[in-house]
Amino acid sequence: MADNRRPDSMERIETQEQAEVFVAAQLDALRAQVGDKKVLLALSGGVDSSVVAALLIKAIGKNLQCVHVNHGLMRKGESEQVVEVFRNQMGANLVYVDATDRFLDKLAGVQEPEQKRKIIGGEFIRVFEEEARKFEGIEYLAQGTIYPDIIESGPVKAHHNVGGLPEDMRFELVEPVKFLYKDEVRVVGKTLGLPDSMVYRQPFPGPGLGVRCLGAITRDRLHSLREADAVLRDEFNKAGLNEKVWQYFTVIPDFKSTGVRGGKRSYDWPVIIRAVNTKDAMTATVEEIPWPLLHSITDRILEEVPGVSRVLYDLSPKPPATIEWE
Ligand code: XMP
Repeated sequence: MADNRRPDSMERIETQEQAEVFVAAQLDALRAQVGDKKVLLALSGGVDSSVVAALLIKAIGKNLQCVHVNHGLMRKGESEQVVEVFRNQMGANLVYVDATDRFLDKLAGVQEPEQKRKIIGGEFIRVFEEEARKFEGIEYLAQGTIYPDIIESGPVKAHHNVGGLPEDMRFELVEPVKFLYKDEVRVVGKTLGLPDSMVYRQPFPGPGLGVRCLGAITRDRLHSLREADAVLRDEFNKAGLNEKVWQYFTVIPDFKSTGVRGGKRSYDWPVIIRAVNTKDAMTATVEEIPWPLLHSITDRILEEVPGVSRVLYDLSPKPPATIEWE
């Protein structure tokens, strides 16, 4: 496993100049590794796979084949941004697969969180495999593995790698950022010209909104969750909290609560706001969102999001609560 240890001689990448040196060396190394062969990449739009895509587009251009699988559990606007940035702006070969119906049909009626994760992970590999089989002459698979994925085990890395592909599809791996820590990946991403909204993106779990739409996922609740999450993100962006808070999102439970609308009794869902800070995701503290901001987020969610009549703020640190609700 010697080649899985960060070389002692490797300096930390903190400045743009250091990132430029890293990028230049990686472009040479990538061209040397893959030559004129084709490389496949599952591009989620997260920082790691985005930086790998940007490096490979520079190194080998159209010989990189990106596949973006929209599992229907992405946040609002995310898949559109992947297509816009990589296909339209950077000219990448990108296949966009909208597999929403497939995932949601498989998940229908499934309540148990780990079962939901298994279905989402398994289906992702099947969709990706089906797409991969459509291409000819691919010999390499690129992955956004980063150094913590190698040295630690834990929930944060679970979404990486498409290691579940069948035997006959075991491509040789291309992992250009595998010795980098997250903050270094971000500096490299910035140097490669990726938008800040991608480079400084908060961590987003592989199963996406699937573990925030509690219990059995339904399309109407998923829609409300996505809209509420978009309101929260918009308000955090406007208040500058997006650069300060480690992870912030909304959760929608699978029970309703009474409300009153237009003088009539209604029966709608609550939305829960979660905003936490952490260094390593093993422990976390709750961000103290200013009261006026909480009010404006609440007002907007109640006004703009269908089916919601109550907004709650989760004050629980980790431990004993986990960051995600399931
Ligand atoms: P918890 O909820 O365990 O989360 O405190 C710690 C960190 O891990 C993320 N997380 C996941 N990431 N697949 C992922 O890729 C998962 O199934 C998963 N579950 C939790 C969570 O968002 C937080 O950053």
